[in-house]
Amino acid sequence: MHKTVFESFKSDQVTEEMLDEAAKLFSENYGVWSEHAAEGMGKFAKAGRPVRLSKERLRNEYLPSETSSYVRVTVNDNLAGNAFACRWSIDGRTICWITQLVVHHDYRERGLATRLLNETRLDGDDVYGIMSSHPAACLAASRAYGRPIDTASLEFMKENAQSIMKASPAGYVRDAKLQGWLFDSEDTSGLVSSVDTGFFVDHEEPLAALKWVRKSMEWPLGELLEGHEFILILQAKRRFRFRSDSSRQNAMS
Ligand SMILES: CC(C)(COP(=O)(O)OP(=O)(O)OC[C@H]1O[C@@H](n2cnc3c(N)ncnc32)[C@H](O)[C@@H]1OP(=O)(O)O)[C@@H](O)C(=O)NCCC(=O)NCCS
Repeated sequence: MHKTVFESFKSDQVTEEMLDEAAKLFSENYGVWSEHAAEGMGKFAKAGRPVRLSKERLRNEYLPSETSSYVRVTVNDNLAGNAFACRWSIDGRTICWITQLVVHHDYRERGLATRLLNETRLDGDDVYGIMSSHPAACLAASRAYGRPIDTASLEFMKENAQSIMKASPAGYVRDAKLQGWLFDSEDTSGLVSSVDTGFFVDHEEPLAALKWVRKSMEWPLGELLEGHEFILILQAKRRFRFRSDSSRQNAMS
């Protein structure tokens, strides 16, 4: 029998030990550098070698604000997946951005990513965002946040992506360049809703997933190019519509 446990932590509750485990999970399960990584990013990014992350980077770049949070799932006491989220406000709206999501190879395709993202939700969230080269991460977000991906409002992304991202405390979100036909009607590259992050992780697995996903649905985010990721921004569905503003503000405290 499997014992599956989900746990959520505010950023100040995340210990060095948790980050050590998260860094190990990432380094062993995220992916490998692409053949163009060294030329795009530097010698350290050797083709075929695992993309690695230190616990210091996890803390500084993926949990950058006081309202950041960490959710993890263990199966029989082994870390099977985790998600990092950070929040910020713009024009009175609370943005919850998934800064990292990874599920151990042994536990994929059984809904853990979807459930992890569901656990990141707070009542006061107005908007959810994620950048990822993996279609499954976008599908998991759309499922967790109650917006089927083929009905997600591209118009909302088009109108709001730039201002939302520029206000982010996460540097890599602020610096990502929006690309694709959604943001530039003259773009004919095949990209629709993408960001150029200059992050050259190998796309073999995400492209295979994309091919598979396209057999069963109209994929709305377009093609995936080297050094690019999909971007998905969704309006939250309110679970408790009648909560007062003050209780919403206190949701993280
Ligand atoms: C992306 C990742 C987190 C997905 O984790 P997971 O636990 O397997 O995802 P889920 O089981 O919740 O599946 C989510 C959706 O994606 C689909 N999916 C998952 N893996 C898939 C694959 N390899 N091919 C096609 N579809 C896939 C599922 O069927 C599900 O779709 P549905 O909601 O329509 O049923 C995992 O593959 C991973 O860690 N990849 C490497 C790291 C990465 O790319 N992270 C994202 C960067 S932010």
